[in-house]
Amino acid sequence: MTAPPWALLAELTHGCPLRCPYCSNPLELTARSAELTAGQWADVFRQAAALGVVQTHLSGGEPLLRRDLDAIVAAADGAAIHTQLVTSGVGLSAGRLRGLVAAGLRSVQLSVQHADAAASERIAGARSFTAKERAARLVREARLPLGLNVVLHRANLDALDALVELALAWGAERVELANTQFYGWALRNRDALLPDRAQVARAHAAVERWRERLAGRLDLVWVVPDYVDGTPKPCMGGWGAVSMTVAPDGTVLPCPAAAALPGLGAPNVKDHALEWIWRESPAFNAYRGEEWMREPCRGCALRATDFGGCRCQAYALTGDATRTDPVCPKSPDHGLVTALVDAARPDPRPGYSYRTEGPR
Ligand code: SF4
Ligand code: FES
Repeated sequence: MTAPPWALLAELTHGCPLRCPYCSNPLELTARSAELTAGQWADVFRQAAALGVVQTHLSGGEPLLRRDLDAIVAAADGAAIHTQLVTSGVGLSAGRLRGLVAAGLRSVQLSVQHADAAASERIAGARSFTAKERAARLVREARLPLGLNVVLHRANLDALDALVELALAWGAERVELANTQFYGWALRNRDALLPDRAQVARAHAAVERWRERLAGRLDLVWVVPDYVDGTPKPCMGGWGAVSMTVAPDGTVLPCPAAAALPGLGAPNVKDHALEWIWRESPAFNAYRGEEWMREPCRGCALRATDFGGCRCQAYALTGDATRTDPVCPKSPDHGLVTALVDAARPDPRPGYSYRTEGPR
């Protein structure tokens, strides 16, 4: 019997005021006109709760672009699902936040690109730093838990100390320091984003120093740079094991990047019940468990710990999602990753490819 999911990532829209080069959303964005309505989201949350889901991240793109966000939050809260808003902060006013809190919003995760305003806006490709600062203040005034999410890469890893100081100044309780994962648009910018080993080692040492110094005052989460440290990640806690992603148009995926896998046949909530999707659909069963594994994963003692790494990364690097994740030193494809990391050079102002168009 398949264990139930407990988390649902609700991608409400691909629309976004920012143009971050590390965006993991697909190259081809879902049109605004194809987005699920608030009523359809309410149905998704009811079905998800019945399946076992207890927590949702309301994400995007920028979920604040949805004028009906209050109704979406209320629907999730009404289904007894804990709601966290994942936002750039752009578009968050005191009135908007009041409405969301009244609808049942429980916490906010704010994206931060850099501690320096100019550097932050260069990375985001848009004016946004003042809006973020204001959003952090509003969230604290509303007494909601505030987390910051910093995607780390070549242009901000050396600002680790300043980023932690900013988190303290803004009153965050938690900071997710997430080394860039190379999917979607981020893959296009990999050469400009990938840090060298020394830079990652310096940043990691800084995190350890801060953890010791802050001792419980601020939760610092370090999401490992798997390209650099050669540790395959247990992606999504295993394929179809704990979490599902619902894309803006209702496509249901085992992970946010899986839309890029050819032939997956991802189902849609408009056509199928969520329970069937979770338990029976070919997409959710494609890499569930260990049956699909090949050597060296099949005979490896760590296969129940890291599940052979990330399927989307195996596909992105080798064109075959069933291969061992090439970040693993035991993978026959590991040389692909070491060659990329060996070629990485420190450069605080790399040239980025920005999206020039949002969703239609
Ligand atoms: Fe993990 Fe497979 Fe590498 Fe073993 S061979 S460590 S299971 S990715
Ligand atoms: Fe899809 Fe890792 S991002 S399995």
